[in-house]
Formats: sequence, C-alpha cells, structure tokens
Amino acid sequence: MEADYLLISSLETLKSHLRFLLTLRSREGHYRSLILFRLSLVQNGASKPNETEYGQLYAMEANCPHLGADMSHAEIEECDAGLVAVCPWHRYDFDLRTGESETGLKACTYAVQVRVDEDGIRRVWVETPEDGTDWRLVELRPVSEDFADPPPPPDLSRLTITSSSDDRSISSPTEPVVPVEGAPTTLIQWAVLILNTSNPTLKVERTRHAVQLFRTGQLKTIGHRSATAPRPPDVPPREDSFARNMVDPAKVTHRKNRAAMLHALANIEQWAIDLAWDIIARYGPAHPDLPPAFFSDFTKMALDESKHFSLLVARLAALSPGTPYGSLPVHAGLWDSASATFNSLRARLVIIHLVHEARGLDVNPGTIARFRRAGDDESVRALEVIHHDEVTHVTTGHRWFTWLCTKQGVDPVQTFRDEVRRCWRGDVKGPFNVEAREMAGLTPQFYEDLKGEMPLVDQASK
Ligand code: FES
Repeated sequence: MEADYLLISSLETLKSHLRFLLTLRSREGHYRSLILFRLSLVQNGASKPNETEYGQLYAMEANCPHLGADMSHAEIEECDAGLVAVCPWHRYDFDLRTGESETGLKACTYAVQVRVDEDGIRRVWVETPEDGTDWRLVELRPVSEDFADPPPPPDLSRLTITSSSDDRSISSPTEPVVPVEGAPTTLIQWAVLILNTSNPTLKVERTRHAVQLFRTGQLKTIGHRSATAPRPPDVPPREDSFARNMVDPAKVTHRKNRAAMLHALANIEQWAIDLAWDIIARYGPAHPDLPPAFFSDFTKMALDESKHFSLLVARLAALSPGTPYGSLPVHAGLWDSASATFNSLRARLVIIHLVHEARGLDVNPGTIARFRRAGDDESVRALEVIHHDEVTHVTTGHRWFTWLCTKQGVDPVQTFRDEVRRCWRGDVKGPFNVEAREMAGLTPQFYEDLKGEMPLVDQASK
C-alpha cells in the first residue's frame, strides 16, 4: 500500500536550523514525535531523492528504541552502509534511512519528499505513521543548537537594582550550579534540587544545566523507579525579598500598567518552572511505567518556562528599572491550584496543563495587543514566543492526559470534565481561543459549559 504523506512546511522554512522536532497527532488522539534532520553533508555519488541544495532530509522517531533517549541531540556519523544517528545515551547507532542498528533494534524512520506545488514553491512532506488516520502537524520546533555549546544564562541579579533603604534586588546566587557535595546523579534528583532552589537566577541556570546533561547523554538515569528517589517539597521555597511581597491571590489588584503585567507574568513563569520539575519529581516515582518521552517533554517545558521567565525579567528591567522582579505583590495561586492535585497525575495534567495553561492561550492575544498598542515591540516579540511555546505545553498536557486515559481505559472528555468538577472551583471561563485550544488537542467538548465544584477551604480552620 502506498504511504500517506503529511505536509510539514516550505523547504525555505527549514533553512533556519539543521534539526526540527515534529509533533503529529492523529484523529484518534495518538501522538508521534519525530526529528527531522537536515544534513549539510556533501555526499559522493548519485544525488538522493530527498537531497536539496540545503542538504539531505531524514526523519526518524524522536525517542531511541533502546531506552527512550531524546534523539534530537544524536550525533550523525557516516559509516560504510550510509548515515547513522548515534544515540547520546548508550551510543547505539541507527541508519537514518532504514532505522536499522547493528544491535538488532530498529528505529522507525519516515520517508521525506520535496514536492513543488502549483505556485512553484518547494514543500517538504513526511510519511505518516501507520497507526491512526488524518495525521496533522501540531508542532514544528527548531532544535536549538545552543545545546552543543550553551551560552551562559542571563544573570538576573544584574538586571535589578539595590537601594540601601529598600533592598529589592534578587540576590546573586551564592551556590554553584552543580553542588560541590551530593551532586545529583538522576533526573529526579535534579528536579528536587531545582525545586528547592529559591534563587531564581540559580533555578534558571540549574534548569539549563540539567536539561543539557539529560539531552546530551551525560545524565542517563531518570531515577523514577528507584526506591530512594527524593521527595519534592510541598511548596518550593522563595527568596526572602520575594516572600515578603507574597499576598493572597484574591487580594492582588490587577494593575494595568505594563511593568506590573510583566512582573505578574514573570511570577507565573517562575512557578511554571517549578511545576514542570514537580510533575517529573512527584509523579515519576508513582508511575514507574511512564516512558522516557514523558520526561523529555517535561524537561523541554521546564526549559521553555525558564526562557520565558528570563525574557520577562529582562523586559521588566528595561521598561521599569525601579520595579525589579520581586518588588511588586506576587501570589502563589498557581501552586495552590497544583497542590489540590498532589495525589493524582491525571488531575494535575487537567488542572495545570489543560485548564490554567489553556486559559493562557485565551488571554495571551489580548495581552500582546495591549503591548503592541503601547508601541513596545520588544515585549510583543517576547510575548509571542511565549504564546507559541504555550500552545505546545497544552499539547503536551493533552498528549499525556490521553495516554493515561488510554492506559486506564477511561474516556478522555468525560474524565477531563470529572476532574475539573472535583479539583477546580467555579466556571471554566471563556471567551475561549478555540483555534489555539483545538491546535493543542482541546476541542470544545472538553471545556464548554463546565464548572468546578471543589468546596471552598475554610481559611480559619487551616
Ligand atoms: S542507546 Fe539510546 S537509550 Fe540506550
């Protein structure tokens, strides 16, 4: 039977990077992650069907068939039989064309075609997986080449001011990125260390470092099946200067000036870094059957959130040096919501990734428009990056929620609605960004006419 192909992008779009992560979703809700390699190697001999002046194109599954390492940072080597991708974890190599390996394992590879459309534009098509129908592309993300040689992360302390009468700066980290004693040796240990890191600069640096170790094979052990996996904190600590400004979410006045908005968004991103590590550390040990792709997805999310945090803090410093990060009221509403789901991965995916994060998709366009009207193009660029990434975060939530529902033999839509009723308080508010939600897998049946019934906690009895 002839294979089906899915349109990925114009060839021109792929000029920007050498590797892309593709996320595909079928009509049945199955997901596949692929890596598209664009190799600029000059080959001897006859040209290949997928060869262009931009290099040869190959696609293979994004996780190694051995133990699931992320193949986005695989080395490409040339051997007698052709080109192979070498897994960063245990260095098994897989033929880029056939997926075969000398070890006997086989990776799924997908044919790539370049076709010229009726307007004369060359477009790249990739063969679709066999299971499922109506595959669509839900994410096309360049793989950052920074990770081969990561640049130093921003020092947030230099972006803030200190006055003797009112110390409002974020302090410089006093600890090294890798602890001198008891350095983490598993992903879960890194996650718990980062959750316990109160200094935001250090949290960002450690996030970048841990993800780099994990992706490049220097950290091969996830550690979620270990009986001695450390426990994450109930509430990640915050620096004193920050904690002094912590208020009840209900008492935060929604100030409309841009600095206050950037500050509020940066606070949410700092909690979001913690939440990405928390889902790894809290639920990994409780679900030993979680595949490595789950951990790849949430480490990617942690890295994105740390990038968002840095972007927002930098914009805040540029726009309003008098109100550095940590100087305005902040709240822990997002963490409070997460704590209602501590005993259920399913509820966590629903409440944090499919309700809170999906709400972000609804409100982001309005926020971006506000900054655009003010002529603040730099902030607009930062917010657009964040919005784009957040669609993929909701996709990740949907992917792993449907994975869990399939394993548990329950219906995703009905289960989603049940979890919202149980762990959410009040209406799931619109207006909805139906298009962005749908792109992430959330069709209106999930969220329309839905109200959470979680009882109010009596503060006096706490
Ligand atoms: S060779 Fe890839 S995970 Fe072991």
